[in-house]
Amino acid sequence: MAQLLSFRVYLSAETQKASSESLKRTQKTRKPFSPGRRGPVAPPRKPQNLNLEVSPHRAVSAVRLMRIEYGGAFADLLNEKGKGSGSNEMSYVERTIGFRTRDLDDRDLRLVTDVVGGTIRWRRFLDHLIGSLCHNERTFRNMEPLLLQILRIAVYEIIKLDMPSYAVVDENVRLAKVALRPGAGDFVNGILRKLVSLKEKDALPLPKVEGDDRAQARALATLHSHPVWMVRRWVKYLGLDEATKLMIWNNSDPGFSLRANTGRDITRADLVERLESLKVPHELSLNLEEFVRIKTGLQTVVQAGLLKEGFCSVQDESAGLIVSVVKPQPGERIMDACAAPGGKTLFMASCLKGQGMIYAMDVNEGRLRILGETAKSHQVDGLITTIHSDLRVFAETNEVRYDKVLLDAPCSGLGVLSKRADLRWNRKLEDMVELTKLQDELLDSASKLVKHGGVLVYSTCSIDPEENEGRVEAFLQRHPEFSIDPVTSFVPSSFVTSQGFFLSNPVKHSLDGAFVARLIRAL
Ligand SMILES: C[S@@+](CC[C@H](N)C(=O)[O-])C[C@H]1O[C@@H](n2cnc3c(N)ncnc32)[C@H](O)[C@@H]1O
Repeated sequence: MAQLLSFRVYLSAETQKASSESLKRTQKTRKPFSPGRRGPVAPPRKPQNLNLEVSPHRAVSAVRLMRIEYGGAFADLLNEKGKGSGSNEMSYVERTIGFRTRDLDDRDLRLVTDVVGGTIRWRRFLDHLIGSLCHNERTFRNMEPLLLQILRIAVYEIIKLDMPSYAVVDENVRLAKVALRPGAGDFVNGILRKLVSLKEKDALPLPKVEGDDRAQARALATLHSHPVWMVRRWVKYLGLDEATKLMIWNNSDPGFSLRANTGRDITRADLVERLESLKVPHELSLNLEEFVRIKTGLQTVVQAGLLKEGFCSVQDESAGLIVSVVKPQPGERIMDACAAPGGKTLFMASCLKGQGMIYAMDVNEGRLRILGETAKSHQVDGLITTIHSDLRVFAETNEVRYDKVLLDAPCSGLGVLSKRADLRWNRKLEDMVELTKLQDELLDSASKLVKHGGVLVYSTCSIDPEENEGRVEAFLQRHPEFSIDPVTSFVPSSFVTSQGFFLSNPVKHSLDGAFVARLIRAL
């Protein structure tokens, strides 16, 4: 669980800044949190105020959604008002809505995961329906945050999970009544009854894809619940059909891959044996001999301690294929220039067969510390040296050269939206300009660390041509001493682009989207 938690912490740290900005934005359009009314932060109450009437998964989901949407700012507010550490989820629930529910069992936990992930993904679509059913636009715009989360959960359950409507209406009305006030319950009841009646008549108020490009993009963005700028960008680069398929992929339940920790002499056969004993359905990866795919059962793997004991890692095959392009060899000195939290560092270290060194650099000290700790549990710490530095500063002040440099650059993450449910709402078009500038600077710095005849690998978890091919082309113009080494001999041919780069396409390969260029420095 600790590993999964750190995995989650990593994800939320990435989105922390954007989340607090989202709170600021939301506060401009919605009524601000007010301690005086039953908003997200209720006054401190008697401990152990237990309510057995409200369904636990809905109460916990509503609170978790608040924490995700309002991020650090919401947690800080809770700490101020609730005087608690905030580490225990049920204490968050109590301080937010005024009571605890019974503890979650495994079924509830699965429901919370489904409901929270789905409600975040489908937010734009759900808000469209809720907004259409409100009396007027102001009612929707000024809706208090907790009430909105309860409505989003209910609409998601009715429309996307197809749960029995009467139960969903009753349960969410009750939650609104006890967590807010009786009038809030009546309001939820009114909206949901209208929704159910329209659903039964197959007359949901959905936009039509028609009009000019902008109007079509807006309709698609609502129907498939993505930001309009992303839809416009993908329609431009991929065409309407592929863009639509990509959005459908992003809204589907993600599968996961596990990598057997060969650095500890654990083979894929060992991993398969453990999965069979845990009754976790799995498939062998056709692309990588250390990897196994699972669609369900990650929680079982975590609970059985496989991650904690360093038996295996959760790693997407696309990340594994990036390491295939680096192809670490025993005895090599490899700089992993943007290494944390270290998935690729660990895999590269396990390829060294005890000889050589991975220098794992990152500007983020906390994440680098996690990398160091995981390296110990994977028993590859003797092959990894961590360096806390900004790559740009390090490259200016160090003469040292490496056989290979991997630059797994900070990027938009547009290839991993199926796993990172909230990321689509935290990214902005302006980010792309900042990111491509940073990617250029990091590429220039990384190139200085490559020995003559050495290899520079540039990778992203994005499918955006401007972050991928665009950056490599611009780099080669600035650095004629580098040339493209086609990845043909490192990965299966279906991943190789016409320019000799690696590209995993979520729709085509059923993997996260990722890009890799292998560049050689002239002797
Ligand atoms: C895509 S993540 C790397 C993921 C990692 N390679 C893995 O497989 O787990 C990008 C990383 O770049 C780091 N980073 C961003 N700017 C940096 C800089 N100027 N110097 C060094 N690291 C930087 C971030 O802290 C982040 O950990």
